[in-house]
Amino acid sequence: MNNSRPADEGNCQQPGAERRTLQPCSIVIFGASGDLTARKLIPALYHLCKEHQMPADFRIVGFARREKTDESWRTELRTALDQFSRTKPVDEEVWKKFAACLYYCQGDLADPAAYQKLESILTGFGSAPLRQNLLFYLAISPSQFGTVAEQISQARLLNKDGTAWQRIVVEKPFGHDLASAQALNQELTRFAHESQVFRIDHYLGKETVQNILMFRFSNSIFERLWNRESVDHVQITVSEKLGVGERGGYYEEAGALRDMVQNHMLQVLSLIAMEPPVSLEAESVRDEKVKLLKSIRPLTPETVPLQVVRGQYFAGSVGGQPRPGYRQETKVNPSSNVETFAALKLFIDNWRWSGVPFYLRTGKNLPQSASEVRIQFRPTPNVLFAAQCGQHLDANALTLRLQPNEGISLRFNGKVPGMSLGVRPVRMHFSYDAEFGAYTPEAYERLLLEAIAGDATLFIRRDEVETAWHIVDSIRNFWDDKPLTNREFYAAGTWGPVAADDLLEKLGHKWHEPQIVT
Ligand code: BG6
Repeated sequence: MNNSRPADEGNCQQPGAERRTLQPCSIVIFGASGDLTARKLIPALYHLCKEHQMPADFRIVGFARREKTDESWRTELRTALDQFSRTKPVDEEVWKKFAACLYYCQGDLADPAAYQKLESILTGFGSAPLRQNLLFYLAISPSQFGTVAEQISQARLLNKDGTAWQRIVVEKPFGHDLASAQALNQELTRFAHESQVFRIDHYLGKETVQNILMFRFSNSIFERLWNRESVDHVQITVSEKLGVGERGGYYEEAGALRDMVQNHMLQVLSLIAMEPPVSLEAESVRDEKVKLLKSIRPLTPETVPLQVVRGQYFAGSVGGQPRPGYRQETKVNPSSNVETFAALKLFIDNWRWSGVPFYLRTGKNLPQSASEVRIQFRPTPNVLFAAQCGQHLDANALTLRLQPNEGISLRFNGKVPGMSLGVRPVRMHFSYDAEFGAYTPEAYERLLLEAIAGDATLFIRRDEVETAWHIVDSIRNFWDDKPLTNREFYAAGTWGPVAADDLLEKLGHKWHEPQIVT
């Protein structure tokens, strides 16, 4: 293997291209043979390179146990890129430059000799920043995080202080309950400072999720209404048409609550409901998110059955396709009690939101794949139109469509043209595609770029992850020794168990199906 390359070989930058000035660095991917590397990380890095966003000089080193050469890893990644790249065909010029920056380091995660080899590869790049500015991406099982942190620290690749930077990016799941997340945090921060740990939640890399803060705090007409005076309730739906498929083994340990609620849904909730941060600095934004999570009214064994519903799909069909029940999926226990659906009614006990219900629901094998937030405003007093419209005049609603059909819609009432006084709900739509074109960078592109730049705003802080686990644990502890009852099952292709509807009906609300905008 030839490690000595001229220092400008990784230069994918074009003069005049709009980009941040980033210091040269090396990115080391642990778990380089895995699915995430091929499907997400390498395509994201390739696109950053294509769009001239990468540092002027960079290297990528894949670290894994399997025997490979630099060349065979490159060939493998090229095949994967042809399949997973979001732009096709792959640009040969860009690929050539990008591939020249890819190196492979074979070794066992627990073997100090492998880290010596890694050290010599990095030194072989022949430039101090490429040896010292290091982004370690841990695309491996959380049980191995501690080992890697210790090994890179002992090999003097990770320093808690210093002029150059080193950062560790970790994937979810970050623990499976509060105690395990605390243990992981402790292991990582034995060797790294908290500011060096970047915990990923890919939802924060989505354009539409980042837009929540922009939308809220740059539009006075909406921000004024963003409180208990005007908002009746909020619905956050993250529904998926797919079942668990090949991921039964993982899902048996996770379930919908750990897989989606603890991270993605509580993140979206905190952005929707948090107070304005004092600045857009990472710590200010994260302080407000943590404050919000801490203001969620604690769930107790008495309130969990009233506020949380779980469900598991049985055989049915989604979009005309037959689907097996969860208990029949590969690597799933045939009498499993793991939930594939969860719906929650949460209250935020602070000045802004006191008394406003926040409904969250997520599930597999539902009729649609859609993530959206619906802000349902309070109705007007129906004194003028009651004779024409009955008791229920439609209340205004604002829907943030996170995916697909990314955009925002406002629903209000309008007069039906004609001689009579008919009133009907109508909608105004903003669509990302129509407004900005179809440029939709993958979440991982943004997240990798922020990690290279050292901006932790889009990553989860230690107290944030622990607070989220605390909320989820209070539900899990209640469910753990209780088998599912008949009322908790739903047919694949339906919107979850009936109990999820009852959760809203008690307060006179009902779930709204995600909007299809054409
Ligand atoms: C992952 C979960 O974190 O998010 C998956 O593990 C889920 O179960 C996925 O399917 C959903 O992500 P997206 O970006 O497709 O909404």
